Amino acid sequence: MKKIIYMFLVLAVAASCSAKEPEGQKKMDRFIDGLMAKMTLDEKIGQLNLSGGDIPGVLSGSEGLEDAVRKGLLTSTGWSSVTELRKLQDIAVNESRMHIPLMCGLDVIHGFGTIFPIPLASSCSWDTTLIEKSARIAAIEASSNGCNWTYSPMVDIARDARWGRIAEGAGEDPWWGAKVAAAMVRGYQGKDLADSNTILACVKHFALYGASEAGRDYNTVDMSRLEMYNDYLPPYKGAVDAGVGSAMSSFNLVEGIPASGNHWLLTDLLRKEWGFNGFVVSDYDAIGEMTSHGLGDKQKVSAIALKAGVDMDMMTNGYVTTLKKSLEEGKISQKDIDVACRRILEAKYKLGLFDDPYRYLDEKKAKENFMTKENLEFARLIAQKSIVLLKNDGKLLPLRKEGTIAVVGPMAFTTQDLLGMWSGTNDQNSATIVEAFQEAVGDNARIVSAQGCHFTEDPMLAAASGLKVDPAENERLIKEAVSKSAAADVVVAVMGEPRSWTGEACSRSDISLPASQKDLLKALLKTGKPVILVLANGRPLTLEWEDSNFKAIVEAWHGGAEAARALSDVLFGDVNPSGKLTATFPRTVGQIPIYYNAKPTGRPCNPKDHYTSQYLDITNEPLYPFGYGLSYTEFTYGELKLDNASLKGDKAELTASIDVTNSGDREGEEVVQMYIGDPVASISRPIKELKGFQKIDLKPHETQTVSFIITTGDLEFYDSSLKRVWEPGDFQVYVGTNSRDVKSKTFNWQK
Ligand code: BGC
Repeated sequence: MKKIIYMFLVLAVAASCSAKEPEGQKKMDRFIDGLMAKMTLDEKIGQLNLSGGDIPGVLSGSEGLEDAVRKGLLTSTGWSSVTELRKLQDIAVNESRMHIPLMCGLDVIHGFGTIFPIPLASSCSWDTTLIEKSARIAAIEASSNGCNWTYSPMVDIARDARWGRIAEGAGEDPWWGAKVAAAMVRGYQGKDLADSNTILACVKHFALYGASEAGRDYNTVDMSRLEMYNDYLPPYKGAVDAGVGSAMSSFNLVEGIPASGNHWLLTDLLRKEWGFNGFVVSDYDAIGEMTSHGLGDKQKVSAIALKAGVDMDMMTNGYVTTLKKSLEEGKISQKDIDVACRRILEAKYKLGLFDDPYRYLDEKKAKENFMTKENLEFARLIAQKSIVLLKNDGKLLPLRKEGTIAVVGPMAFTTQDLLGMWSGTNDQNSATIVEAFQEAVGDNARIVSAQGCHFTEDPMLAAASGLKVDPAENERLIKEAVSKSAAADVVVAVMGEPRSWTGEACSRSDISLPASQKDLLKALLKTGKPVILVLANGRPLTLEWEDSNFKAIVEAWHGGAEAARALSDVLFGDVNPSGKLTATFPRTVGQIPIYYNAKPTGRPCNPKDHYTSQYLDITNEPLYPFGYGLSYTEFTYGELKLDNASLKGDKAELTASIDVTNSGDREGEEVVQMYIGDPVASISRPIKELKGFQKIDLKPHETQTVSFIITTGDLEFYDSSLKRVWEPGDFQVYVGTNSRDVKSKTFNWQK
């Protein structure tokens, strides 16, 4: 009876009034004040503990989970199934003393049930509407299936393709990264977290994780604040400005202090400077790992993390096992615990969990909103838009649906690898590429297929990813593929990376196609048949040899549940490709880190002058620059025009315009990109930085004038005192089809 009365009271107090409104905020504060007044210290600390790991005497792995929930030692649980989650929620709200509901967090990175292209791929769509919609669908599916918190968006700027986690973010550009981050947050969190089809987003990995030295995961980072503010922090800030409800502190060091124990980062910058008002969760055991970083034992690092601003401990169980002692010893204060506990209770309140702890646990809704036909159709659309045409000499593409087409290569026979990292093994009703081709051509053409080779014959790489090495079998596969290809009219070779080579803990020192795949490609070239190279992978690869030997190359990425059908739509020309790279493709791994928004050097590269910034054995230029991508049609750029070349004051606006003509014979989309350079400033500035783009659709022979309005906001940067400023003087505007092929003009802007 007592329980029922309690629940009634909880419901009456919490009854929905969005915490976004001032009245709602007051109501939430009163509710949480009331709740916290009744909570014991242990219960408060329990709210800071994300499930998992060991709590001596209570929890060991999943053993003792129910008991830990009953004792109020866990705040959130991992995802399992609606039925399982309901059982745990029952225990939390009926059997724990304070009846506080659990949250349920999961890595919903590029879709929940319906898997979309990996984030690096979808960022190549240059379409925030599509990206936001993918996050919205993910949120609807996740929230209907018991998950109300995603550890996404991952917005780490990455300039090093050796790092496997480059797959999880939007590439190398801070301006675009911030736009994508905001779109994802809007998609997940919707208009109001109080709606039952929205989920809490978590921006990660705060901060600078993408700069892991040598591209090796979990490695150290060291960076100037100038570089942080101008190049690495903008996407996190984009998420904060969009109202992200939680943030994850990263594994790496920031200025010598682990991010998860860095007060400057988590409190001074994130909260005080940026106004973030959600909660911070540590990355997986990032608090415990501070011991390896040399900061002390579990008790000490847990206290450091709490004081720095980590509200929730993921997997270390350091808070739940040591904070009480630290409090007794005066190492932390009651206020430190209360502040963190309040932030987490606020998130639960905003999610509506105190109103109805079961609102995300409806079996019927779970089925209804899972991988619907519409969601899969959308997955196909966004996968089409993510594909980047890298080369198409002699218009080898699109293919015609006729004759005999050989589809060969290890990526042509898999559905799971096309899903990409962080995607579980749900049955997506996906097609393999061979199946998708067959569906596309019907009876009009003959498809022959062969696996062609193993992903790799390299023993170390194979062992690390659970693959078998068998050179004799590889030889046999190559022969079989060659004989089938020799009898075909055209060959489509689908190569790349299995998903186990990309994502977390998947750094590669060599990012070329492995020898086994290259051997197959060489053998296919010898047949004399036209060979189209398709790549399905999770990072930029080094493709110099491929670029010199193949006339047509398509970057299809790990495109998700409908990757294969989307690819076949593009290869057969039902869809004209329009994706543009958001990460530079180096020629060799030795060029890394390589990115378009580099600073000038004191001795710019001059091949005629030995003592300039260059390599002896390779050009400085990447193979495919940032922003690069072709279409089946051609776009011609006219003259870049400025409506004014000398401006004054903060209110002034400059219009840069250019005529873009579809000079080919097919309708197509083009991403017209605008970059700005600031050649003379108080600090050395990048030669050019992306500041805008427009995606236009042009019919054959149609011309459109594309205009960009430039304001002083586009000239701003952080100066050496970390003030956001713009400095008067000459500037350069560049407009073009990628970051390399641009038209430019100079303008002058005075205060
Ligand atoms: C990853 C995070 C992820 C977390 C929980 C960590 O190892 O770095 O990105 O959210 O695990 O799965």
